[in-house]
Amino acid sequence: MGAKILKHTQREKIHKAAELLFKSKSAVVLTGAGISTESGIPDFRGDHGIWEKYKPEIYGNIKSFIRDPQKFWQMAEKVAPKLFTANPNPGHIALAELEDMDLLKAVITQNIDELHQKAGSVLVYEVHGNINRFNCFGCRASYTKKQVLQKLKKEKSYPPTCDICTAPLKPSVVLFGEGLPTFEIYQSQALAQKADVMLIAGSSLSVAPVCDLPAYTLSEGGKLIIVNDRPTHLDNKAEIVIHHKTGTILPLIVEEIKKLKAEKDSNV
Ligand code: APR
Repeated sequence: MGAKILKHTQREKIHKAAELLFKSKSAVVLTGAGISTESGIPDFRGDHGIWEKYKPEIYGNIKSFIRDPQKFWQMAEKVAPKLFTANPNPGHIALAELEDMDLLKAVITQNIDELHQKAGSVLVYEVHGNINRFNCFGCRASYTKKQVLQKLKKEKSYPPTCDICTAPLKPSVVLFGEGLPTFEIYQSQALAQKADVMLIAGSSLSVAPVCDLPAYTLSEGGKLIIVNDRPTHLDNKAEIVIHHKTGTILPLIVEEIKKLKAEKDSNV
C-alpha cells in the first residue's frame, strides 16, 4: 500500500506525530521485527512469522539449545541468510534521519539484524543481541561470522563447535530464558523513563522486559506514538496510533517534520 492511498485520518495522524516529535526534547524509538519485514526478514508473530514455523519452546529457548543445539542451528541455517543479506528499508532510513536531526536520542531495538546501523543510526541499543557476533557456549571464546560460516562449510554438521573446548557455538542473540545484556536494558529503561515521546515501530509488544519500556515513558507523563500494521495492547494508551506499514509511515513523518522545520526557519 503506497503513501498516495492513505486515508485522510492517517495523514492527520502523521502530521500530529510529526508535531509531537518536532517539539520533543528527549524522544526515543523502540523497534521490533515489523520494521525489518520490508527488508525481507520475517517477523515472529505477524503473518507467516518465524514462530509459526518453528516452535519457540523448541527452537528459541536456551534450555532447548542446551539439550539439542542442532535444532537451533537448523532454524538458523534457514533464517540467517536473509538476515545477513538484508538491506535497510525506508523505515530504518527515516529513523536514522531523525537521529541526524537530533530529534531521536537513541534507537532501542529488539532486532538482531543490524539494519539500523546499516541505515546510519548511531546510538542503537540491541536489547536482544546481534546475529553477526558468535561465542562458544562453553568457554566464551568469540568467533566472527566469517569464521563460523567457514566452519559450517568445512565441518558440514550442526552445531559448529569451539576449536578450544569443542562446546557448541551460539550467535550472541538472547533466547527465551536467557538474561538480556545488562547495560543495554538498564540504559533503555533510563531512556524510556526520560523520554517525553516514545515512537514504537513494528513491535507486537508481547515479550518482557522490553514490552514494559513504554510503561516507563507513560509513568513519567511521556507520550506514545505507535506505528504497527495491526493493533497492540498499548494502542489505548497511545497519543497516536497508525495501523500501517512502517516503511510507508516513518518517511512521511520525517517529510512532515522537514516542512515544520522549514516553516520555523523561515519565520526566524
Ligand atoms: N509495518 C508495520 N508493522 C509490521 C510490519 C510492517 N512492515 N510487518 C510486521 N508488522 C507488525 C506485525 O503485525 C507484528 O504486530 O510488527 C509486529 C512484529 O511483532 P513480532 O513479530 O512479535 O516481533 P517483536 O515485537 O519484535 O518480537 C519481540 O520476541 O520472539 C522474540 O526475540 C524475539 O525480539 C523478538 C521479540
